[in-house]
Amino acid sequence: MNDTCLEFRNLTLGYDGHAAVHHLNGAVERGSLTAVLGANGSGKSTLMKGIAGILKPLGGGCVSSARRLAYLPQLSELDRSFPARVVDLVSLGFWQQRGLFGRVTRDDKGRLSGCLDAVGLSGFEARPLDSLSGGQMQRALFARTMLQDADLILLDEPFNAVDDETMRDLLAVVAQWAGEGRTVFCVLHDHALARAHFPQALLMARKQVAWGRTEEVMTSDNLSRARSFQEAWDDTAGWCEEPRGLQRHLHGDGAGPDASVRKAAAHG
Ligand SMILES: Nc1ncnc2c1ncn2[C@@H]1O[C@H](COP(=O)(O)OP(=O)(O)O)[C@@H](O)[C@H]1O
Ligand SMILES: [Mg+2]
Repeated sequence: MNDTCLEFRNLTLGYDGHAAVHHLNGAVERGSLTAVLGANGSGKSTLMKGIAGILKPLGGGCVSSARRLAYLPQLSELDRSFPARVVDLVSLGFWQQRGLFGRVTRDDKGRLSGCLDAVGLSGFEARPLDSLSGGQMQRALFARTMLQDADLILLDEPFNAVDDETMRDLLAVVAQWAGEGRTVFCVLHDHALARAHFPQALLMARKQVAWGRTEEVMTSDNLSRARSFQEAWDDTAGWCEEPRGLQRHLHGDGAGPDASVRKAAAHG
């Protein structure tokens, strides 16, 4: 795993015995910048939780050689009514280095100020979280991620519901992370953004439809295959070996995905 930061080995993830993402294989190069794309419900957040270790695999595995991992969940999964200030949220970035009750040093305080400054939130230390706009909250979460000093960074839809200026500033932070040799795996919806800022892309439809250089992944053929596969998925099926007909389809034999094949194989 010399230049590999993360490797999926036939990884299947899901809930209550039902697969949400299945049979993922491949490697993520150290220092790469990957956009994770796919329709709603295609398993992007599930994959992030699997990599972060929050969700245990139903099958296969995920191996990482990262020294430290940072995971920024979708904003919709965070409880912002919690009575805390910006400084409390951002200080959580020290947790992996200092422990939950470890002392924050003078140097740490300097780093914290530097990170707030880098995301444009100087002077916001004492602001309650519930008074922040979506963009300001995302800036604070990026400051926390910066403090974590992780070499593998997982971002789940970080640019949703943020204004253009915030998006520009946060994209600059992501580019800086890549420049520092950190590996970034980022869920996105905006195809133009992926093409402009992420050299690598993983297109999901409950499994990998295509993975590689962004311009080779984001073809109209791959996007329409992702759509039809997503429509054919049966949420109630148990997790299974991959049905043959589907496997041929996903590897490009030109045959359309067949929902009845998927369902029959899954239940049988
Ligand atoms: N906590 C959960 N319990 C049960 N099913 C879930 C849970 N979270 C997600 N799912 C299901 O897993 C599938 C993939 O969801 P998700 O990974 O959130 O997709 P995406 O992030 O691409 O929109 C969906 O069918 C969703 O309903
Ligand atoms: Mg999601």
